[in-house]
Amino acid sequence: MSLEIIVLAAGQGTRMRSARPKVLQMLAGRPLLGHVLATVRRLRPARIHVVIGHGADAVRAAFADAADVTWVHQAEQLGTGHAVREALPGVAQDSTLLVVYGDVPLVTEATLRGCIDAAHAGVALVTMRPPDPAGLGRIVRDRRGAVVAIVEEKDADSSRREINETNSGILAMPATLARELVAALDADNAQREFLLTDVVRHAVAGGVAVLAHETADAGEVAGVNDRMQLALLERDFQRRAAHALMQQGVTVYDPARIDIRGDVRAGVDSLIDVNVVLEGTVDLGERVAIGAGSVIRNSRIGNGVRIEPHSVIDGAEIGEDCIVGPFARLRPGTVLGPRVHIGNFVETKAAQIGTGSKANHLAYLGDVDIGEGSNIGAGTIVCNYDGVAKHRSEVGDGVFIGSNSTLVSPVVIAEGAFVAAGSTVTNKVDARELAIGRARQRNIAGWKPPSQR
Ligand code: UD1
Ligand code: MG
Repeated sequence: MSLEIIVLAAGQGTRMRSARPKVLQMLAGRPLLGHVLATVRRLRPARIHVVIGHGADAVRAAFADAADVTWVHQAEQLGTGHAVREALPGVAQDSTLLVVYGDVPLVTEATLRGCIDAAHAGVALVTMRPPDPAGLGRIVRDRRGAVVAIVEEKDADSSRREINETNSGILAMPATLARELVAALDADNAQREFLLTDVVRHAVAGGVAVLAHETADAGEVAGVNDRMQLALLERDFQRRAAHALMQQGVTVYDPARIDIRGDVRAGVDSLIDVNVVLEGTVDLGERVAIGAGSVIRNSRIGNGVRIEPHSVIDGAEIGEDCIVGPFARLRPGTVLGPRVHIGNFVETKAAQIGTGSKANHLAYLGDVDIGEGSNIGAGTIVCNYDGVAKHRSEVGDGVFIGSNSTLVSPVVIAEGAFVAAGSTVTNKVDARELAIGRARQRNIAGWKPPSQR
């Protein structure tokens, strides 16, 4: 039977106290809904229906490239049961329906598969036993242990609030059964909403089997209703991501002090010090050491590279055995060959730097190609911008640029050339020439400071 999925994402998320719809709140650098969509896609469903309402335009815009999503508009948010009712007309009869909530972002593919497999003839629910069940729907069982109802906290008396088995919101059943059960829902409850959870009561009344699929890992199905829960889930996500890195053979000095907001691959024996943030697609080779407080985004870092503390690396490719930082900033388009050294307060942008070249202190290297074995002195600036356009410069192999030089782009400094400290270079320097572009020093003998005049 084919699989159809409904994702509920129409709620405002009042408890977030936010101008943006809840499912666009960010977890690990990605909207909550993005996590859910990524996971349900792995189930290869026939269709994914996402129910939107509050902030619908913003949600659609945030997922404009999600061509596989059918958007369903729930004009008034009359409850989770009503949301499913709105989506059901688009669901094929001869299918299994899985319902997931857009605010339960960490659920795993395995748990969803378990739920679908349990939904042959009846209703299957994912349940959990969290340390604190406050706010969640409780699973009511009869004396023989069969599930008979889900009772929302607002509708529960004190004895039912004692129940520690709770509803994750995830459920599956044949689509034909969903149609019958959802049609029977009413708003006769404390919330005055159509509660999807009431399908369980209706199923039991109609003699339909209800199966609870309990997950051992309550954190995986935790929901996000306020910013405290969001922060807790963020830490939970990060703990899991850090563990995954450690399993790949990476030393994470403190798994509680790392943030991974994207896809990170790392080779064995790499070391990540505290307070490192990895964003986007990051590829670390083997034996890479990342110093404390560094931020690395969409970059590839070769084997044996050392990133010293507090470096910011964005859109860069770093060759083997380079040393970068502390306090370096590599911007998009930076490509470092092997064994390059980039030191403190050096900024690079669209810069290609060849094997073994060094810029160890205080420099701006923007829109420049630098050859192999060159040395860029402290305070060197490549003046790539004339106020209107950017220009590229070229520095050959084995060039020595003295400290505090300005290279006014576009300019070429050919191999083996030497630029004297403090020079402003505007014209081509040929191979092995010495360029001196500065005022000549003048010493005035017998000069008196103002006070002694
Ligand atoms: C819901 C469950 C509760 C469960 C908990 C797990 C119901 C009635 N209650 O409570 O049993 O323990 O999740 O996290 O289902 N939504 C719509 N349209 C609506 C209302 C809600 O699309 O009219 C969406 C929301 O955007 C959200 C999801 O449904 O993504 C759940 O709604 P929410 O208000 O968060 O329900 P909970 O109070 O968390
Ligand atoms: Mg919720």
